[in-house]
Amino acid sequence: MIPFTPRLPDTSIRISERVWLRALEPKDRDAIATILTDPDVARWYPRDEDDFMSVIDEPEVTPYLVLGDDHPIGYVQAYHANAVPFWQSHDVPQETMGLDILLAGADNRDRGLGPQILRILMRRLFGMQGVVQCIIDPDPDNARAIRAYEKLGFRFGPPQVGYEGARMVLGTLSRTEFARTLLSLAAQGS
Ligand SMILES: CC(C)(COP(=O)(O)OP(=O)(O)OC[C@H]1O[C@@H](n2cnc3c(N)ncnc32)[C@H](O)[C@@H]1OP(=O)(O)O)[C@@H](O)C(=O)NCCC(=O)NCCS
Repeated sequence: MIPFTPRLPDTSIRISERVWLRALEPKDRDAIATILTDPDVARWYPRDEDDFMSVIDEPEVTPYLVLGDDHPIGYVQAYHANAVPFWQSHDVPQETMGLDILLAGADNRDRGLGPQILRILMRRLFGMQGVVQCIIDPDPDNARAIRAYEKLGFRFGPPQVGYEGARMVLGTLSRTEFARTLLSLAAQGS
């Protein structure tokens, strides 16, 4: 059997004319530090830049800087949840990919960009042999994030203890549910 390779091979991904994802590099430390000073990011994603830099060489994680008109405006990552001890205790099916996203700057939020990025990323993740589910784990009070992910078809369970003791609601989206979302978006012409 061919072993599962959880890392996306793409070093850059086009989201729109002005927005691109570019594989995170060590030189991006200051850009990440600046993104983390945004109060809305700091509130919902309280980590420091070292946490981001440390995943660059992890084989289970694909981290991207989000660029808007060539300027860093956010971060998104996909990771192999089955490889993370925390998720193993949640009995996630093989192969499950986890997602995290943060957009800095009010101009970059509430305009549909988050779901647009996740949709394009998930097309690639579900295109990988063996991926059956994507998960995402916002804080139960992060109503904007939950709403944004529900628009993609994620379904959320009750609040529970999350990664490293944080609070979370677990959102799941199967391959079939994602296909349904794509059909529905296509029918709406988006
Ligand atoms: C969460 C995030 C990725 C969502 O991406 P986005 O591009 O802003 O999302 P969208 O614009 O598609 O959708 C946001 C939705 O939430 C709604 N919304 C905004 N503020 C809200 C609030 N306080 N309560 C409820 N809904 C809210 C918007 O109206 C919109 O819904 P609609 O399209 O039905 O009108 C982005 O806002 C972000 O990075 N926020 C800061 C960091 C963060 O919270 N990261 C997530 C950690 S899990």
